[in-house]
Amino acid sequence: MFLALFISYFYYACPLNICSILAQKINKVHAITDYQAHFLAYLDQKNIQKEPRNLYEPIEYILQLGGKRLRPVLVLMATEVFDVPYTKALDAALAVEVFHNFSLIHDDIMDEAPLRRGKETVHKKWDINTGILSGDAMLINAYQLFENYDGSMYKSLTQLFTKTAIEVCEGQQYDVDFEERDDVTIEEYLKMIEYKTAVLVGAALQMGAIVANASTEDQHRIYDFGRLLGIAFQLQDDYLDAFGDPETFGKQVGGDIIENKKTFLYLKALEQGTPDERKQLEGLFSLEEVNAEEKVEMVKGLYESTQSKTATRAAIEKYTKLAFETLSSLQVSKEKKEMLQQFGEMLMNRSV
Ligand code: IPE
Ligand code: IPE
Ligand code: MG
Ligand code: MG
Ligand code: MG
Repeated sequence: MFLALFISYFYYACPLNICSILAQKINKVHAITDYQAHFLAYLDQKNIQKEPRNLYEPIEYILQLGGKRLRPVLVLMATEVFDVPYTKALDAALAVEVFHNFSLIHDDIMDEAPLRRGKETVHKKWDINTGILSGDAMLINAYQLFENYDGSMYKSLTQLFTKTAIEVCEGQQYDVDFEERDDVTIEEYLKMIEYKTAVLVGAALQMGAIVANASTEDQHRIYDFGRLLGIAFQLQDDYLDAFGDPETFGKQVGGDIIENKKTFLYLKALEQGTPDERKQLEGLFSLEEVNAEEKVEMVKGLYESTQSKTATRAAIEKYTKLAFETLSSLQVSKEKKEMLQQFGEMLMNRSV
């Protein structure tokens, strides 16, 4: 799936046959897909069936369900950006992916989501209690994986992980609180997505830098790159939740609208809409009894007529560019910066 993403990105982004540039890019593409393959091999190797099955089966299920594996790839990539072999970072990469998948199980319970990566969510396939406990075990397992690092590296990794994990919880609570509020500002929304999503992207990169013993300055720079990229990533997630292709997106398209999520699309539509459009949108987000399909279609229409859809694309580009600006001060080769930048461009153009 990851490869397909790259292929579609390069197909759309480079329709002309500019051979040398393309050849150069394909080299790096292979490098990134290699990280994914190495990670998947490591995941497979760690996958041993354990008892009780009702605890571990849902864990195996979610971890084998696919997904883009962006965060572990970022851990491995960052380690090599600072010239240390990725193999040293495999446990940190696994910890980040296990934590991410734990957060998805619990997020799907909170968002009442039926689909994840094109398959039934854990709480639908089993039940809510199973989702809670299997998720808890994954969070603990993520901590356990850091025990494979010694002394000051263990301390730095767990400190960063703890700070990040608590921020993710804070972000998730804001997200839920906002469903019931009608005065959410764009500034508050940006803070919320920074916490629920972007800090983990930053932390993944910083963990790679920690494993590579990079300087504190570079650790913070690469964290910031990831944080800004993570903001663009969540904006794109919100965009795809409304405008993604149901055939390929893997989640219920319109799920955020059904759940009254105060996304960038929603807040911009309120800001840019006419008084009548505003009234319609607020009305649709406050009705108790409403046909979900009709609601999704009407809200999407308003996201288009108010130009909120266009404004969201512009915001995705803005945060991606801001992320790229942070790369200039990073003390690594031009080639390494290009690899990071290419990763960001791929995210901005993804459809999954
Ligand atoms: C989904 O993350 C949750 C968000 C933070 C938006 P991903 O889009 O990275 O999910 P997978 O792991 O590829 O399925
Ligand atoms: C989820 O945000 C963020 C975390 C899981 C912490 P979303 O609720 O938008 O993620 P998806 O769309 O369900 O993947
Ligand atoms: Mg969700
Ligand atoms: Mg959510
Ligand atoms: Mg989403």
